[in-house]
Amino acid sequence: MDFSFNDDQLSIQSIAREFAQKRIAPVAAQFDASGEFPLDNIREMGQMGLMGIEVPSEYGGAGMDPISYVLAMIEVAAADAAHSTIMSVNNSLFCNGILTHGTEAQKQTYVKAIATGEAIGAYALTEPQSGSDASNMHTRAVKSEDGTHFVINGKKSWITSGPVAKYIVLFAITKPGIGAKGVSAFIIDTEKEGFHRGKTEPKLGIRASATCEIEFVDYKCPVENLLGEEGQGFKIAMGVLDAGRIGIASQALGIARAAYEATLDWSRERKAFGQPIGAFQMTQSKIADMKCKLDAAMLLTLRAAWTKQEVAKTGGRFGNEASMAKLVASETAMWITHQAIQIHGGMGYSKEMPLERYFRDAKITEIYEGTSEIQRMVIARNETGLR
Ligand code: CAA
Repeated sequence: MDFSFNDDQLSIQSIAREFAQKRIAPVAAQFDASGEFPLDNIREMGQMGLMGIEVPSEYGGAGMDPISYVLAMIEVAAADAAHSTIMSVNNSLFCNGILTHGTEAQKQTYVKAIATGEAIGAYALTEPQSGSDASNMHTRAVKSEDGTHFVINGKKSWITSGPVAKYIVLFAITKPGIGAKGVSAFIIDTEKEGFHRGKTEPKLGIRASATCEIEFVDYKCPVENLLGEEGQGFKIAMGVLDAGRIGIASQALGIARAAYEATLDWSRERKAFGQPIGAFQMTQSKIADMKCKLDAAMLLTLRAAWTKQEVAKTGGRFGNEASMAKLVASETAMWITHQAIQIHGGMGYSKEMPLERYFRDAKITEIYEGTSEIQRMVIARNETGLR
Protein backbone atom coordinates (compact mmCIF):
# COMPACT_ATOMS: atom_id res chain seq x y z
CA MET A 1 0.00 0.00 0.00
CA ASP A 2 1.32 3.42 -1.01
CA PHE A 3 -0.02 6.59 0.64
CA SER A 4 1.88 9.02 -1.61
CA PHE A 5 0.42 10.98 -4.52
CA ASN A 6 1.95 10.80 -8.01
CA ASP A 7 3.31 13.81 -9.91
CA ASP A 8 0.10 14.40 -11.88
CA GLN A 9 -1.99 14.35 -8.69
CA LEU A 10 0.40 16.74 -6.93
CA SER A 11 0.39 19.00 -9.96
CA ILE A 12 -3.41 19.42 -10.18
CA GLN A 13 -3.54 19.86 -6.39
CA SER A 14 -1.02 22.68 -6.62
CA ILE A 15 -2.73 24.33 -9.64
CA ALA A 16 -6.11 24.20 -7.88
CA ARG A 17 -4.62 25.49 -4.60
CA GLU A 18 -2.95 28.44 -6.27
CA PHE A 19 -6.09 29.50 -8.14
CA ALA A 20 -8.28 28.91 -5.09
CA GLN A 21 -6.09 30.89 -2.71
CA LYS A 22 -5.31 33.77 -5.11
CA ARG A 23 -8.58 34.15 -6.95
CA ILE A 24 -11.38 32.54 -4.94
CA ALA A 25 -10.56 32.98 -1.23
CA PRO A 26 -10.26 36.80 -1.42
CA VAL A 27 -13.77 37.15 -2.94
CA ALA A 28 -15.56 34.28 -1.17
CA ALA A 29 -17.17 36.44 1.54
CA GLN A 30 -18.34 38.95 -1.06
CA PHE A 31 -19.99 36.25 -3.22
CA ASP A 32 -21.54 34.72 -0.08
CA ALA A 33 -23.06 38.07 0.87
CA SER A 34 -24.38 38.94 -2.60
CA GLY A 35 -25.37 35.42 -3.69
CA GLU A 36 -24.06 36.29 -7.16
CA PHE A 37 -23.06 33.32 -9.37
CA PRO A 38 -19.24 33.42 -9.92
CA LEU A 39 -19.46 32.93 -13.69
CA ASP A 40 -16.05 34.41 -14.63
CA ASN A 41 -14.20 32.22 -12.14
CA ILE A 42 -16.07 29.12 -13.28
CA ARG A 43 -15.25 29.84 -16.93
CA GLU A 44 -11.59 30.29 -16.05
CA MET A 45 -11.58 27.10 -13.99
CA GLY A 46 -13.03 25.32 -17.04
CA GLN A 47 -10.18 26.60 -19.20
CA MET A 48 -7.76 25.21 -16.58
CA GLY A 49 -9.38 21.75 -16.77
CA LEU A 50 -11.07 21.95 -13.37
CA MET A 51 -14.61 21.48 -14.73
CA GLY A 52 -13.78 18.13 -16.34
CA ILE A 53 -10.92 16.68 -14.34
CA GLU A 54 -11.68 13.05 -15.23
CA VAL A 55 -12.86 13.93 -18.76
CA PRO A 56 -10.46 12.71 -21.50
CA SER A 57 -8.71 15.49 -23.41
CA GLU A 58 -10.60 14.68 -26.65
CA TYR A 59 -13.76 15.90 -24.90
CA GLY A 60 -12.08 19.01 -23.49
CA GLY A 61 -11.12 17.75 -20.03
CA ALA A 62 -7.94 17.27 -18.03
CA GLY A 63 -7.90 13.46 -18.46
CA MET A 64 -6.93 12.78 -14.86
CA ASP A 65 -7.93 10.17 -12.27
CA PRO A 66 -10.55 10.21 -9.47
CA ILE A 67 -7.89 10.92 -6.81
CA SER A 68 -6.85 14.05 -8.72
CA TYR A 69 -10.52 15.10 -8.66
CA VAL A 70 -10.64 14.68 -4.87
CA LEU A 71 -7.45 16.70 -4.36
CA ALA A 72 -8.58 19.56 -6.60
CA MET A 73 -12.08 19.68 -5.07
CA ILE A 74 -10.61 19.93 -1.56
CA GLU A 75 -8.50 22.94 -2.56
CA VAL A 76 -11.42 24.78 -4.16
CA ALA A 77 -13.80 23.96 -1.28
CA ALA A 78 -11.24 25.16 1.28
CA ALA A 79 -11.38 28.57 -0.42
CA ASP A 80 -15.12 28.64 -1.09
CA ALA A 81 -17.68 25.85 -0.88
CA ALA A 82 -20.05 27.51 -3.38
CA HIS A 83 -17.42 27.40 -6.15
CA SER A 84 -16.82 23.73 -5.33
CA THR A 85 -20.55 22.95 -5.51
CA ILE A 86 -20.69 24.24 -9.09
CA MET A 87 -17.45 22.38 -9.87
CA SER A 88 -18.78 19.12 -8.44
CA VAL A 89 -22.08 19.23 -10.37
CA ASN A 90 -20.24 19.93 -13.64
CA ASN A 91 -17.65 17.20 -13.03
CA SER A 92 -19.56 14.42 -11.30
CA LEU A 93 -23.23 14.81 -12.04
CA PHE A 94 -23.09 16.14 -15.57
CA CYS A 95 -19.88 15.04 -17.32
CA ASN A 96 -19.50 11.72 -15.51
CA GLY A 97 -23.00 10.51 -16.44
CA ILE A 98 -22.65 11.37 -20.13
CA LEU A 99 -19.12 9.97 -20.31
CA THR A 100 -20.29 6.68 -18.86
CA HIS A 101 -23.59 6.31 -20.73
CA GLY A 102 -23.55 8.79 -23.61
CA THR A 103 -23.03 8.36 -27.35
CA GLU A 104 -19.96 9.76 -29.08
CA ALA A 105 -22.04 12.69 -30.40
CA GLN A 106 -23.39 13.43 -26.91
CA LYS A 107 -19.86 13.45 -25.48
CA GLN A 108 -18.56 15.70 -28.26
CA THR A 109 -21.36 18.23 -27.83
CA TYR A 110 -22.36 18.27 -24.19
CA VAL A 111 -19.35 17.03 -22.24
CA LYS A 112 -17.03 19.28 -24.22
CA ALA A 113 -19.15 22.38 -23.56
CA ILE A 114 -19.17 21.82 -19.80
CA ALA A 115 -15.63 20.47 -19.33
CA THR A 116 -14.11 23.48 -21.07
CA GLY A 117 -16.13 25.97 -19.00
CA GLU A 118 -17.97 27.25 -22.07
CA ALA A 119 -21.32 26.37 -20.45
CA ILE A 120 -22.73 25.27 -17.08
CA GLY A 121 -24.38 21.88 -16.48
CA ALA A 122 -26.99 20.64 -14.01
CA TYR A 123 -28.66 17.42 -12.86
CA ALA A 124 -32.41 17.19 -12.30
CA LEU A 125 -33.67 14.27 -10.21
CA THR A 126 -35.48 15.76 -7.20
CA GLU A 127 -39.12 16.87 -7.43
CA PRO A 128 -41.28 18.78 -4.95
CA GLN A 129 -42.76 15.49 -3.61
CA SER A 130 -39.68 13.26 -4.02
CA GLY A 131 -36.25 13.95 -2.53
CA SER A 132 -34.83 10.89 -0.76
CA ASP A 133 -37.47 8.65 -2.38
CA ALA A 134 -36.06 9.55 -5.76
CA SER A 135 -37.89 7.02 -7.94
CA ASN A 136 -41.26 8.42 -6.82
CA MET A 137 -41.03 11.08 -9.54
CA HIS A 138 -43.92 12.45 -11.60
CA THR A 139 -42.15 14.18 -14.50
CA ARG A 140 -43.35 12.38 -17.60
CA ALA A 141 -41.70 11.87 -21.00
CA VAL A 142 -43.96 10.51 -23.77
CA LYS A 143 -42.53 9.38 -27.11
CA SER A 144 -44.11 11.08 -30.11
CA GLU A 145 -46.02 8.91 -32.59
CA ASP A 146 -43.38 9.39 -35.29
CA GLY A 147 -40.69 8.36 -32.76
CA THR A 148 -38.54 11.46 -33.33
CA HIS A 149 -38.86 13.04 -29.90
CA PHE A 150 -40.21 12.81 -26.35
CA VAL A 151 -42.69 15.34 -24.99
CA ILE A 152 -41.73 16.20 -21.42
CA ASN A 153 -43.98 17.71 -18.74
CA GLY A 154 -43.26 18.17 -15.04
CA LYS A 155 -41.42 20.05 -12.32
CA LYS A 156 -38.00 19.51 -10.74
CA SER A 157 -36.80 21.25 -7.61
CA TRP A 158 -33.53 22.11 -5.85
CA ILE A 159 -31.62 22.21 -9.12
CA THR A 160 -28.07 23.30 -8.40
CA SER A 161 -26.87 25.73 -11.13
CA GLY A 162 -30.44 25.62 -12.53
CA PRO A 163 -30.65 29.41 -12.98
CA VAL A 164 -27.61 29.45 -15.29
CA ALA A 165 -27.34 25.93 -16.73
CA LYS A 166 -27.30 25.55 -20.51
CA TYR A 167 -27.59 21.76 -20.41
CA ILE A 168 -29.25 19.50 -17.84
CA VAL A 169 -29.24 15.74 -17.30
CA LEU A 170 -32.91 15.05 -16.54
CA PHE A 171 -34.72 11.99 -15.19
CA ALA A 172 -38.35 11.37 -16.16
CA ILE A 173 -40.88 8.57 -16.28
CA THR A 174 -41.27 6.93 -19.70
CA LYS A 175 -43.23 3.91 -18.42
CA PRO A 176 -45.52 4.73 -15.51
CA GLY A 177 -46.58 2.30 -12.80
CA ILE A 178 -43.39 0.20 -12.64
CA GLY A 179 -41.34 2.44 -10.32
CA ALA A 180 -37.59 2.76 -10.86
CA LYS A 181 -37.66 0.59 -14.00
CA GLY A 182 -39.88 3.15 -15.76
CA VAL A 183 -37.35 6.01 -15.46
CA SER A 184 -35.27 7.25 -18.40
CA ALA A 185 -32.52 9.88 -18.63
CA PHE A 186 -32.38 12.78 -21.09
CA ILE A 187 -30.02 15.61 -21.98
CA ILE A 188 -31.92 18.89 -22.00
CA ASP A 189 -31.03 22.07 -23.85
CA THR A 190 -32.47 24.86 -21.69
CA GLU A 191 -32.59 27.30 -24.59
CA LYS A 192 -35.39 25.36 -26.27
CA GLU A 193 -39.10 26.11 -26.02
CA GLY A 194 -41.00 24.52 -23.15
CA PHE A 195 -38.25 24.92 -20.56
CA HIS A 196 -38.98 27.35 -17.71
CA ARG A 197 -37.11 28.43 -14.60
CA GLY A 198 -39.01 28.93 -11.35
CA LYS A 199 -38.17 30.60 -8.07
CA THR A 200 -34.56 30.74 -6.92
CA GLU A 201 -34.00 29.26 -3.45
CA PRO A 202 -32.72 31.61 -0.73
CA LYS A 203 -30.22 29.37 1.08
CA LEU A 204 -28.41 29.16 4.44
CA GLY A 205 -25.05 28.40 2.82
CA ILE A 206 -23.25 27.86 -0.53
CA ARG A 207 -25.10 31.05 -1.39
CA ALA A 208 -23.16 31.85 -4.58
CA SER A 209 -24.20 28.53 -6.12
CA ALA A 210 -27.56 29.29 -7.68
CA THR A 211 -30.44 26.85 -7.04
CA CYS A 212 -33.95 26.93 -8.51
CA GLU A 213 -37.03 25.01 -9.59
CA ILE A 214 -37.40 24.14 -13.25
CA GLU A 215 -40.51 23.24 -15.21
CA PHE A 216 -41.14 21.47 -18.51
CA VAL A 217 -44.30 22.31 -20.44
CA ASP A 218 -44.64 20.25 -23.63
CA TYR A 219 -40.88 20.36 -24.03
CA LYS A 220 -39.78 18.45 -27.14
CA CYS A 221 -36.63 16.43 -26.51
CA PRO A 222 -35.13 14.78 -29.63
CA VAL A 223 -34.63 10.98 -29.32
CA GLU A 224 -30.90 11.54 -29.89
CA ASN A 225 -30.89 13.18 -26.45
CA LEU A 226 -32.01 10.05 -24.64
CA LEU A 227 -29.08 9.17 -22.35
CA GLY A 228 -28.49 5.41 -22.20
CA GLU A 229 -31.41 3.11 -22.86
CA GLU A 230 -35.08 3.71 -22.11
CA GLY A 231 -35.86 2.37 -18.63
CA GLN A 232 -32.22 2.55 -17.47
CA GLY A 233 -32.56 6.08 -16.09
CA PHE A 234 -32.78 5.24 -12.38
CA LYS A 235 -29.63 3.10 -12.51
CA ILE A 236 -27.87 5.90 -14.37
CA ALA A 237 -29.04 8.39 -11.71
CA MET A 238 -27.79 6.17 -8.87
CA GLY A 239 -24.44 5.40 -10.52
CA VAL A 240 -23.88 9.09 -11.19
CA LEU A 241 -24.70 9.90 -7.57
CA ASP A 242 -22.12 7.35 -6.41
CA ALA A 243 -19.48 9.44 -8.18
CA GLY A 244 -21.13 12.66 -6.99
CA ARG A 245 -20.90 11.52 -3.36
CA ILE A 246 -17.10 11.32 -3.66
CA GLY A 247 -17.20 14.93 -4.84
CA ILE A 248 -19.33 16.02 -1.87
CA ALA A 249 -17.07 14.12 0.54
CA SER A 250 -14.16 16.11 -0.95
CA GLN A 251 -16.08 19.35 -0.61
CA ALA A 252 -16.78 18.56 3.05
CA LEU A 253 -13.08 17.82 3.57
CA GLY A 254 -12.10 21.18 2.07
CA ILE A 255 -14.50 23.09 4.34
CA ALA A 256 -13.35 21.10 7.38
CA ARG A 257 -9.68 21.63 6.58
CA ALA A 258 -10.14 25.39 6.25
CA ALA A 259 -11.89 25.54 9.63
CA TYR A 260 -9.24 23.33 11.22
CA GLU A 261 -6.32 25.41 9.88
CA ALA A 262 -7.95 28.65 11.04
CA THR A 263 -8.39 27.05 14.47
CA LEU A 264 -4.73 26.01 14.67
CA ASP A 265 -3.62 29.60 13.92
CA TRP A 266 -6.10 31.03 16.41
CA SER A 267 -5.14 28.61 19.17
CA ARG A 268 -1.50 29.71 18.86
CA GLU A 269 -2.22 33.47 18.65
CA ARG A 270 -5.16 34.05 20.99
CA LYS A 271 -4.15 34.38 24.63
CA ALA A 272 -6.27 33.89 27.75
CA PHE A 273 -5.19 33.74 31.38
CA GLY A 274 -1.62 34.51 30.33
CA GLN A 275 -1.09 31.79 27.71
CA PRO A 276 -2.13 30.80 24.16
CA ILE A 277 -5.51 29.07 24.32
CA GLY A 278 -3.94 26.13 22.46
CA ALA A 279 -1.99 25.36 25.63
CA PHE A 280 -5.19 24.55 27.53
CA GLN A 281 -6.10 20.88 27.64
CA MET A 282 -9.71 21.55 26.62
CA THR A 283 -8.52 23.21 23.38
CA GLN A 284 -5.89 20.51 22.81
CA SER A 285 -8.50 17.80 23.17
CA LYS A 286 -10.67 19.45 20.49
CA ILE A 287 -7.68 19.96 18.16
CA ALA A 288 -6.59 16.32 18.48
CA ASP A 289 -10.12 15.10 17.75
CA MET A 290 -10.41 17.48 14.78
CA LYS A 291 -7.17 16.20 13.26
CA CYS A 292 -8.09 12.51 13.73
CA LYS A 293 -11.57 12.96 12.23
CA LEU A 294 -10.19 14.98 9.31
CA ASP A 295 -7.61 12.32 8.43
CA ALA A 296 -10.09 9.45 8.88
CA ALA A 297 -12.53 11.16 6.49
CA MET A 298 -9.69 11.85 4.04
CA LEU A 299 -8.65 8.19 4.01
CA LEU A 300 -12.23 7.03 3.39
CA THR A 301 -12.60 9.54 0.55
CA LEU A 302 -9.34 8.54 -1.10
CA ARG A 303 -10.33 4.87 -0.78
CA ALA A 304 -13.66 5.62 -2.48
CA ALA A 305 -11.85 7.43 -5.33
CA TRP A 306 -9.35 4.58 -5.67
CA THR A 307 -12.19 2.02 -5.71
CA LYS A 308 -13.97 4.01 -8.43
CA GLN A 309 -10.81 3.84 -10.51
CA GLU A 310 -10.41 0.08 -9.97
CA VAL A 311 -14.08 -0.59 -10.72
CA ALA A 312 -13.70 1.24 -14.05
CA LYS A 313 -11.22 -1.50 -15.07
CA THR A 314 -12.92 -4.53 -13.57
CA GLY A 315 -16.63 -3.67 -13.39
CA GLY A 316 -18.78 -3.57 -10.26
CA ARG A 317 -19.93 -0.77 -7.97
CA PHE A 318 -18.24 1.64 -5.60
CA GLY A 319 -21.44 3.02 -4.00
CA ASN A 320 -20.77 1.59 -0.55
CA GLU A 321 -17.32 3.20 -0.35
CA ALA A 322 -18.72 6.49 -1.73
CA SER A 323 -21.56 6.55 0.81
CA MET A 324 -19.17 5.84 3.70
CA ALA A 325 -16.86 8.65 2.56
CA LYS A 326 -19.72 11.14 2.16
CA LEU A 327 -21.32 10.22 5.48
CA VAL A 328 -18.14 10.51 7.52
CA ALA A 329 -16.72 13.55 5.70
CA SER A 330 -19.95 15.56 5.89
CA GLU A 331 -20.54 14.82 9.58
CA THR A 332 -16.86 15.63 10.21
CA ALA A 333 -17.23 18.97 8.44
CA MET A 334 -20.28 19.82 10.54
CA TRP A 335 -18.53 18.82 13.78
CA ILE A 336 -15.24 20.55 13.00
CA THR A 337 -16.86 23.83 11.91
CA HIS A 338 -18.99 23.75 15.08
CA GLN A 339 -15.93 23.20 17.30
CA ALA A 340 -13.95 25.80 15.35
CA ILE A 341 -16.55 28.47 16.12
CA GLN A 342 -16.50 27.49 19.79
CA ILE A 343 -12.71 27.84 19.98
CA HIS A 344 -12.87 31.21 18.21
CA GLY A 345 -15.56 32.41 20.66
CA GLY A 346 -17.18 35.70 19.65
CA MET A 347 -14.90 36.03 16.62
CA GLY A 348 -16.16 32.66 15.37
CA TYR A 349 -19.69 34.06 15.42
CA SER A 350 -18.69 37.23 13.60
CA LYS A 351 -18.80 37.78 9.84
CA GLU A 352 -15.36 39.39 10.18
CA MET A 353 -13.94 35.86 10.06
CA PRO A 354 -14.94 33.02 7.68
CA LEU A 355 -15.82 30.50 10.44
CA GLU A 356 -19.55 31.18 10.41
CA ARG A 357 -19.56 30.79 6.60
CA TYR A 358 -17.76 27.46 6.87
CA PHE A 359 -20.39 26.33 9.41
CA ARG A 360 -23.31 27.37 7.19
CA ASP A 361 -21.69 25.83 4.10
CA ALA A 362 -20.87 22.54 5.86
CA LYS A 363 -24.54 21.81 6.61
CA ILE A 364 -25.53 21.17 3.00
CA THR A 365 -22.99 18.33 2.70
CA GLU A 366 -25.16 16.32 5.13
CA ILE A 367 -28.21 16.92 2.92
CA TYR A 368 -27.61 17.02 -0.83
CA GLU A 369 -26.68 14.08 -3.06
CA GLY A 370 -28.35 11.89 -0.42
CA THR A 371 -28.87 12.80 3.23
CA SER A 372 -26.82 11.17 5.99
CA GLU A 373 -29.86 8.97 6.64
CA ILE A 374 -29.84 7.77 3.00
CA GLN A 375 -26.07 7.08 3.16
CA ARG A 376 -26.64 4.98 6.30
CA MET A 377 -29.47 3.15 4.51
CA VAL A 378 -27.24 2.42 1.48
CA ILE A 379 -24.36 1.20 3.68
CA ALA A 380 -26.57 -0.96 5.92
CA ARG A 381 -28.38 -2.50 2.91
CA ASN A 382 -25.02 -3.37 1.35
CA GLU A 383 -23.63 -4.78 4.59
CA THR A 384 -26.64 -6.86 5.62
CA GLY A 385 -28.05 -7.74 2.22
CA LEU A 386 -31.43 -6.83 3.75
CA ARG A 387 -33.82 -4.06 2.73
N1 CAA B 1 -25.80 1.97 -9.07
C1 CAA B 1 -26.51 1.32 -10.04
N2 CAA B 1 -27.76 0.85 -9.84
C2 CAA B 1 -28.31 1.04 -8.64
C3 CAA B 1 -27.63 1.69 -7.59
C4 CAA B 1 -26.31 2.15 -7.84
N3 CAA B 1 -25.62 2.77 -6.91
N4 CAA B 1 -28.42 1.73 -6.52
C5 CAA B 1 -29.57 1.12 -6.84
N5 CAA B 1 -29.49 0.69 -8.14
C6 CAA B 1 -30.50 -0.06 -8.87
C7 CAA B 1 -30.92 -1.29 -8.11
O1 CAA B 1 -30.06 -2.38 -8.34
C8 CAA B 1 -32.31 -1.53 -8.61
O2 CAA B 1 -32.28 -2.21 -9.85
P1 CAA B 1 -32.78 -3.75 -9.96
O3 CAA B 1 -34.21 -3.72 -9.51
O4 CAA B 1 -32.61 -4.09 -11.41
O5 CAA B 1 -31.89 -4.52 -9.03
C9 CAA B 1 -32.84 -0.12 -8.90
O6 CAA B 1 -31.67 0.72 -9.02
C10 CAA B 1 -33.71 0.39 -7.77
O7 CAA B 1 -32.94 0.34 -6.59
P2 CAA B 1 -33.60 0.35 -5.14
O8 CAA B 1 -34.74 -0.63 -5.12
O9 CAA B 1 -32.51 0.18 -4.15
O10 CAA B 1 -34.23 1.80 -5.09
P3 CAA B 1 -34.97 2.56 -3.92
O11 CAA B 1 -36.19 3.17 -4.49
O12 CAA B 1 -35.10 1.69 -2.73
O13 CAA B 1 -33.96 3.78 -3.63
C11 CAA B 1 -32.15 4.91 -2.58
C12 CAA B 1 -32.68 3.62 -3.21
C13 CAA B 1 -30.70 4.59 -2.21
C14 CAA B 1 -32.90 5.32 -1.35
C15 CAA B 1 -32.18 6.04 -3.65
O14 CAA B 1 -33.50 6.44 -3.92
C16 CAA B 1 -31.39 7.25 -3.23
O15 CAA B 1 -30.15 7.28 -3.35
N6 CAA B 1 -32.09 8.32 -2.75
C17 CAA B 1 -31.43 9.58 -2.49
C18 CAA B 1 -31.55 10.45 -3.70
C19 CAA B 1 -30.52 11.52 -3.72
O16 CAA B 1 -29.36 11.31 -3.37
N7 CAA B 1 -30.92 12.67 -4.20
C20 CAA B 1 -30.00 13.75 -4.38
C21 CAA B 1 -30.54 14.66 -5.42
S1 CAA B 1 -29.35 15.27 -6.51
C22 CAA B 1 -28.56 16.50 -5.69
O17 CAA B 1 -28.64 16.71 -4.52
C23 CAA B 1 -27.64 17.16 -6.63
C24 CAA B 1 -27.41 18.59 -6.47
O18 CAA B 1 -28.18 19.40 -6.89
C25 CAA B 1 -26.10 19.01 -5.97
